[in-house]
Amino acid sequence: MANSQSSGVFAGRKALIIGGSRGIGAAVVRRLAREGASVSFTYAGSEAAAKALAAETGAEALRSDAADRAAVIEVVRARGALDILVYNAGLFIGGDPLATEADAVDRMIDVNLRSAYHAAVEAGRRMNEGGRIIMIGSVNGDRMPFAGGASYALTKSGLQGMARGLARDFGARGITVNVVQPGPTDTDMNPADGPMKDMMHSFLAIKRHATPDEVAGMVAYLAGPEAGVITGAMHTIDGGFGA
Ligand SMILES: NC(=O)c1ccc[n+]([C@@H]2O[C@H](COP(=O)([O-])OP(=O)(O)OC[C@H]3O[C@@H](n4cnc5c(N)ncnc54)[C@H](OP(=O)(O)O)[C@@H]3O)[C@@H](O)[C@H]2O)c1
Repeated sequence: MANSQSSGVFAGRKALIIGGSRGIGAAVVRRLAREGASVSFTYAGSEAAAKALAAETGAEALRSDAADRAAVIEVVRARGALDILVYNAGLFIGGDPLATEADAVDRMIDVNLRSAYHAAVEAGRRMNEGGRIIMIGSVNGDRMPFAGGASYALTKSGLQGMARGLARDFGARGITVNVVQPGPTDTDMNPADGPMKDMMHSFLAIKRHATPDEVAGMVAYLAGPEAGVITGAMHTIDGGFGA
């Protein structure tokens, strides 16, 4: 069931996180629920993690594959007038583009980019005045300093243009549209002790992975009352990856 807390900065706010069972998405679920929002989140494969997170936070877990455009639109529509949409679902398919399955690349584009657009538009149809749309992009939307990341980078830079355009489309209703761009963040996708650690850290000024909670803090700021004129913008939290 949805969270029933009545105090906190997000009290009375309805939030939906697309892709919230693990990692950064789960940290966002925890943060918004802790600060009083009524939170629903979707998941695709991680049912046990989703159920545990729902039990921990009081958030509602909804199984829905973000690669399925119709399913994403329906899950957004069914939540009614949202105050906060966070599109976090994402996967990384890397490697030599000449040897990568086209279907795998297309699925990543569907999850990371295509459904982000349709979720944001569907949310915008009935979002409350002053609503917040936040997409989790990546520093790789700005910079791709190693080989094998072209298709991932294209999904993340695609979010940038989308946010700029939708900020114009929804601005008259006070709805903001922003992209949070993490650098290396300690999750299943990119473990702090994983094989890519030394290569990743070589690009950083602060030589450690971010925690999911640090990224969720930036999301909470953008979702909160002080961020009402921040829109159409990219917000990088990357340990200096792009410095
Ligand atoms: N970790 C990093 O270093 C890093 C850096 C920059 C940007 N990012 C971005 O941050 C976001 C979250 O990444 P993460 O590191 O937290 O990854 P993660 O630990 O692999 O978690 C990914 C989350 O997305 C959900 N998801 C994936 N495919 C989905 C689908 N088809 N339908 C619904 N949900 C789906 C997963 O749910 P299920 O397991 O239930 O399918 C899971 O909750 C992604 O957009 C990623 O590109 C991450």
